[in-house]
Amino acid sequence: MAKTEKILTKNWGHINPLKIADYINVGGYGALKKFVSEMKPQTAIAEIVKSKLSGRGGAGFLTGEKLKIVAENASHEKYFICNLEESEPGTYKDRMIVDNDPHLLLEGVIIAALAVGAHKAYLYLNGNYHKQKEILETALEAARKKNFWGPGIMGSSYDLDIEIFSGAGAYICGEETALLNSIEGRRGEPRLRPPYPTETGLFGKPTCVNNAETIANIPWIILNSGKKYAKLGATCSPGMKLYILGGSVKKPGVVEAPTGLTIRELIDEIGGGVTLGKEFWFAQIGGASGHLVTEKELDTPLTFSRDCPIPLGSGSILVVDKSANIYDLILSWTEFFRRESCGKCVPCREGTFRLHEIVSRWQDGEISERDREALKDILWTLENTTFCPLGRFAATAMGDAVEKLKILCK
Ligand SMILES: Cc1cc2nc3c(=O)[nH]c(=O)nc-3n(C[C@H](O)[C@H](O)[C@H](O)COP(=O)(O)O)c2cc1C
Ligand code: SF4
Repeated sequence: MAKTEKILTKNWGHINPLKIADYINVGGYGALKKFVSEMKPQTAIAEIVKSKLSGRGGAGFLTGEKLKIVAENASHEKYFICNLEESEPGTYKDRMIVDNDPHLLLEGVIIAALAVGAHKAYLYLNGNYHKQKEILETALEAARKKNFWGPGIMGSSYDLDIEIFSGAGAYICGEETALLNSIEGRRGEPRLRPPYPTETGLFGKPTCVNNAETIANIPWIILNSGKKYAKLGATCSPGMKLYILGGSVKKPGVVEAPTGLTIRELIDEIGGGVTLGKEFWFAQIGGASGHLVTEKELDTPLTFSRDCPIPLGSGSILVVDKSANIYDLILSWTEFFRRESCGKCVPCREGTFRLHEIVSRWQDGEISERDREALKDILWTLENTTFCPLGRFAATAMGDAVEKLKILCK
């Protein structure tokens, strides 16, 4: 695997994340300077379009296209939101960006917000992430003193206010429309789409919601060009990605590598292979809501393309070896989705509950033929009839466990 320049992690461990001077000394806020002094918002967005950067929050929507939709809306009031909810089990990459290089994220947020014409940006943070809140508060204060946000940014006519909004720490509030409800002080439940937030978002105004990792790529694109970015990684969804390796790998943790690597490359070359003395059983890609892959699928390249059979999702790769307690693992998935279902629609509210009941009975050795039949119905209902993707997520790994691992079926 060829060595590639680092974009997201290049400063990790080399600068003090709490000192803005350290970030500036390595060229930080250079992209913002270039944006305000040399570029028009349309030029900056055109570079992001050319980069073919796609959203790192899971859905993989083209970032440049989303920014363009909001930028082209004539409304005077628009919002930009950086999604830092990150409740997906096994996923902690966005927090690592905040911990190690908060100014990279802020610089991206400021450029993106100004490019779409927003005067207000929110950093939507999971309410349980107290450490990250403190880091962001410190970074925001330092950046404001340098006039990187606030009125007349760096002597220009751009104004931007930035606010940290701490949610209650609910998984569903990472879904962009539930997130909007949460900021508006409503119940954290998803909204019917369309209209999409890009047209009718926060307080009914055009709003761009982007994942933190997505945004952290923007300063590099502005400084180095979209064309250069588009040459990194997979042609269909280029760029660098933060992978979160966990479970039975020799080197667990967050690693930056290009998109398009196969699962085998990620486990063997980046993760150092399966833990010594353990035998690979399966891997789960993209957190608790992700698919399970067995040995024969390990040569699948992971991308954000719709044609990719295994969605990369948040980028987490959990390696499970044959000595794992599958009962506990499956129970942890069903418990998570039962707890996190927002309750707005019946198929998910009831389905996640029943799924968990059946799995609990199975764990106790009490599973009946009726349970097996009900399980099939529940999985189908979650996959096909729920109001938002959370219901489908609840069925993904369980469905794969039944089909690929032959668990819970005869
Ligand atoms: C249940 C659920 C939870 C989600 N959680 C997150 C999250 O924690 N962070 C995130 O960026 N996107 C999350 N998303 C995706 C967002 O709805 C949205 O697509 C994303 O923030 C857009 O940013 P991007 O285009 O940069 O990926 C979630 C989606 C669903 C359905
Ligand atoms: S699928 Fe689940 S999380 Fe989504 S609206 Fe329905 S109850 Fe809420």
